[in-house]
Amino acid sequence: MSEFLTSVSELYPQHINYMQGLAQEAIARESLDGLVIHSGQAKRMFLDDNHYPFHVNPQFKAWCPVTDNPNCWIVVNGVDKPKLIFYRPDDFWHKVPPAPQAFWTEQFDIVLLAHANAVEKHLPFDKSKYAYIGEYIEVAKALGFDLVNPDRVMHYLHYHRAYKTDYELACMREANRIAVDAHRAAKAAFFAGKSEFDINLDYLAAARQGDNTVPYNNIIALNEHAAILHYTVYETEAPSEAKTFLIDAGASVHGYAADITRTYTTDTGEFAEIVAAVDELTMTLANSMAPNVEYSDLQLQAHTGIAVILERFGIVNLPANDIVNKGISRTFFPHGIGHMLGLQVHDVAGHVNDDRGTPKPAPEAHPFLRCTRVIEPRHVYTIEPGLYFIESLLAQLKASPESMYVNWDKVAELAPYGGVRVEDNIVIHATKNENMTREQGLD
Ligand code: GLY
Ligand code: MN
Ligand code: MN
Repeated sequence: MSEFLTSVSELYPQHINYMQGLAQEAIARESLDGLVIHSGQAKRMFLDDNHYPFHVNPQFKAWCPVTDNPNCWIVVNGVDKPKLIFYRPDDFWHKVPPAPQAFWTEQFDIVLLAHANAVEKHLPFDKSKYAYIGEYIEVAKALGFDLVNPDRVMHYLHYHRAYKTDYELACMREANRIAVDAHRAAKAAFFAGKSEFDINLDYLAAARQGDNTVPYNNIIALNEHAAILHYTVYETEAPSEAKTFLIDAGASVHGYAADITRTYTTDTGEFAEIVAAVDELTMTLANSMAPNVEYSDLQLQAHTGIAVILERFGIVNLPANDIVNKGISRTFFPHGIGHMLGLQVHDVAGHVNDDRGTPKPAPEAHPFLRCTRVIEPRHVYTIEPGLYFIESLLAQLKASPESMYVNWDKVAELAPYGGVRVEDNIVIHATKNENMTREQGLD
C-alpha cells in the first residue's frame, strides 16, 4: 500500500466523525432530522446526445471521495452511520463503476441503485424534516422535499469547510505532490522550446490527470500571453522566441485541489530579477500569515511589496508608499492576493464573518479579493502576488494624471515578457505555516 493510501485509510474515520459533528449541529440549529446530499446528474448538451463533463456537488465530495458518479445520494443525521446510495446502472454503453470497495467504504451503509429514478425507496419516507443539498431543485421538489439548500444550513457547512481535517490535509499535500511533478515536466517542455499546447500535454501526462480531472483549466502562457490573467486557449505553434512561461496549474486528489503558479524566463537580465523578486515576495507573504491575522492585510502588504519592485526596477519613478497611495500598483497587480483552497479551487465562505453567514465583503479598493476571513489554524490559503504588463490597464494609466510617474520606455521594454505570478499553497498551523508547494521541492 502506498504511504498516501495508508495515511488516508487511517485518517478518514476521523474525517467522517468531524463531518457527522457538523451535520448534527447544522440540523439541530434548524430542528431538522437530517440532510440528503445529491451528487448531481449528467447534463446533456443542447440538441445533442452528448453530456458535459460531470462535476460533483462539493457538499457530496466533502463526505465521500466519489467524484465521477452522478445519481448518488448520501443520507445523514449526524448520529447514525451515513447511508450512501451508489448509482450502478445496467448499461453496456458506458463504463459502470464497480461496487465500491476502498478505504472509505466501511464508513457507509451502501445500497446500490440500478435506475436513477428509483431512488425514492431508499430515501427517508417523511421528508418534511430533511433538507435536500444539491443542484437539482426540480428533482428535489418532485421527490417531495420542501427544504432545498436552506441558507442557514449552507452557511454553517460552508463556513466550517475552511477548517481542514487531517484527511483533507493529506489529500491536499498529495495534490501538491502530483502538481509539483507535473510543473517540473512543464518547465522542461518550455526550456525544450515546445508550444503552449504541447507543454499542457506534457503537464497532464506527468500528472496522469486529464483536462476534466485537473481542478481548473490550466493556464499555460508564453511571452505576452502571461499578461492575460485567465489565458486558457493555447497556441499550437511555438513562438520564434520564448521569453517567458507562466504556468498556473493544479491537480485533484479525492476532490481536493492544488493551485500552483510559477513563472520561468529564458532572460538573464532584469526580467529574471523581477521574477526572483516576486518569488521572494510570495515567500515573505506566506510567512506573514498567522492565526488572528486578517487575510485582507496580506492584500495591502502585497501592494507594498509590488510597489517596492516597481520602484527598484525604475518602472515607476516614485517611492513605494506613494506608488500604493496613488493607486498605481493596482495597474500592475490587479487581482486578489489569494483565496481559501479545498474542495473548490476558490473555496467557499471567503466573505463571511461567522457560521451564520454574516457578510464581510472585500474592501472597496480591492474588489477582487476573494477572502476577508481572519486566519485560523487548519485554514488553507493560496498566496499569489503578480506583476503584469496588461495593455488595457496600462492604457488607462497612461491617460491618467499619474502617467507622469511611469517610465514608459521601461514598460515598453518589459511588456513583451507579459508578466509574473508565483503561487504557493499554505496550511496554517497553530505555531507554524506549512508551505505544501515548497515542501514538495518546487523552487
Ligand atoms: N488558478 C486560479 C487561481 O489562481 O486563483
Ligand atoms: Mn492559480
Ligand atoms: Mn489561486
